[in-house]
Amino acid sequence: MAVLELNSVIGGYGDTQILHGVSMAVEKDEIVVIIGPNGAGKSTAMKSVFGLLKLTSGNVVLDGQDITNTPPEQVVRHGVCYVPQTSNIFPTLSVEENLEMGAFVRTDDYRPRIQEIYEIFPPLAEKRRQAAGTLSGGQRQMVAMGKALMLEPKILLLDEPTAGLSPKYRGEIFSIVKTIHAAGTPILMVEQNAKQALGIAHRGYVLVDGKNRFEGTGEDLLNDPDVGEMFLGGGKSGNKNPDGDANG
Ligand SMILES: Nc1ncnc2c1ncn2[C@@H]1O[C@H](COP(=O)(O)OP(=O)(O)OP(=O)(O)O)[C@@H](O)[C@H]1O
Ligand SMILES: [Mg+2]
Repeated sequence: MAVLELNSVIGGYGDTQILHGVSMAVEKDEIVVIIGPNGAGKSTAMKSVFGLLKLTSGNVVLDGQDITNTPPEQVVRHGVCYVPQTSNIFPTLSVEENLEMGAFVRTDDYRPRIQEIYEIFPPLAEKRRQAAGTLSGGQRQMVAMGKALMLEPKILLLDEPTAGLSPKYRGEIFSIVKTIHAAGTPILMVEQNAKQALGIAHRGYVLVDGKNRFEGTGEDLLNDPDVGEMFLGGGKSGNKNPDGDANG
């Protein structure tokens, strides 16, 4: 059974419809990647899971349970954690305080989980007392993911985890994504670095203008000439990462 499903989701912000029927699924053992041009609705599709926009049609199903239009704090309690594209850490709080914030709905002892997070992200253990905002871009992204993982989610949603990072940190983030997956957490990830992301993905979706355009295994999409031409930088209209804030 899929851990997460979007079925013909239609919705947007206020009266503006952005998603015109988006369907996707993530199985329990998968890394699934969403690619597509700027403004395609990739972040909006993620926010739709999180109750951050109003869906007028379609539904979101988590582990067999309909969670359509459930408010964000409830979605967290259901076991979905989301690392947004920007502003995903508390910069003035220490690394450890950020992780503690991530545990906000836990009522049990979360200390052992902090140790596990430090094992996944060793640089964070060294910098546990340092203000998160003073870390490098790659390490700030580790804080954001670590914070989300504090709840041991059923699924982790990542919106462009490598945006603005140098190639070295990008590779590091992709390998961390694989580690998180190998430790048992399914992942749905939006990425502009489409080739690299599809390289580690089990399956992928290409969204264009708020609709599904292509889908398939990571390998199929990488080898599909139409996808390559339009979305993998294979042709004139290759989608470049416009993110200028080089914070790697
Ligand atoms: N909070 C908002 N209120 C109104 N419109 C929004 C809001 N957020 C996004 N939009 C609009 O929704 C459309 C899709 O935006 P979205 O951020 O989902 O695209 P994206 O595929 O994630 O793009 P990018 O690659 O630039 O991150 C865009 O036209 C955008 O201007
Ligand atoms: Mg986006």
